[in-house]
Amino acid sequence: MPSIDAVQEQALKRITPSPAEQRALEHAIAKVQAAAARASKGRGLKAVLAGSFTRDTWMKHKREFDLFICFPESVPRERLERDGLALGRRIAKLLRGKTTVAYAEHPYTRLLFRGFSVDIVPCYAVASASAIKSAVDRTPFHNQWLAQNLSPHLANQVRLLKQFTTAAGLYGADAKTQGFSGYLCELLTVHAGGFVPLLQKARQWEPGAAIIDIEEHHKDLRELRKRFKSPLIVVDPVDPNRNVAAALSAEHFAAFAAAAAAFLKKPALDLFFPKEPAVSAA
Ligand code: UTP
Ligand code: MN
Ligand code: MN
Repeated sequence: MPSIDAVQEQALKRITPSPAEQRALEHAIAKVQAAAARASKGRGLKAVLAGSFTRDTWMKHKREFDLFICFPESVPRERLERDGLALGRRIAKLLRGKTTVAYAEHPYTRLLFRGFSVDIVPCYAVASASAIKSAVDRTPFHNQWLAQNLSPHLANQVRLLKQFTTAAGLYGADAKTQGFSGYLCELLTVHAGGFVPLLQKARQWEPGAAIIDIEEHHKDLRELRKRFKSPLIVVDPVDPNRNVAAALSAEHFAAFAAAAAAFLKKPALDLFFPKEPAVSAA
């Protein structure tokens, strides 16, 4: 049986971006940021890079990054949506890229540029993550928190967890996947201090009793359990009122705990790269 370290090392080789890929992404980001600055000149907007690139937890095969455009709070939501999309189109025009419109709580632009998919998301610049006007407004605060709390040596540990959940069909917080978002993978890794330590904890998780509150926002865990009614509760470090694991279904919570137990019992590369592509359990 291959050792658990050897399996992780082999997996990392396949999912860590190469220096050339890193440079290509950085170059594309610089172009998009310059275009965003030109397209929004003189309008008091701030473009903030967000998501996995900013903490070096992006995956070799995903080729995606996220640019959040922060609008002043005084802008009505309707205008934020309209201007956000118009800005996305202008950025795309400057770069001769293609766009589609994607939907979260509100519509945003997905730009295709140099083989990268770029999410251009309008949000509100709010004073704190508990004063948000739209769910995406938390994102700049996630950036700040992770910049301080996700040490560089954990970046590869996050990549392992993202690949492991991807292989199990559990990566993504969308309605179809009902699994683990990138941010949730990052928080779980910080909490446990690594990929294998997280699996060791997950193997013992009891539905509804798995509560992670890294910043210790809450004292009364019973109240918390009642409030969130979720198999896994991960309190957002930047917003005590948000369960970052809210999208995870009971079935997928159990599937993850089972996959963790299976990997610890018999570490195998197959659990990162299944021979048959993962059918989403949804
Ligand atoms: P992404 O979905 O692009 O995730 O959301 P990611 O962390 O960059 O991971 P990958 O590598 O692309 O898969 C970008 C940011 O939007 C916020 C998070 O702050 C995330 O970092 N977000 C997104 C959420 O808070 N919740 C979500 O369900 C999705
Ligand atoms: Mn991303
Ligand atoms: Mn994205």
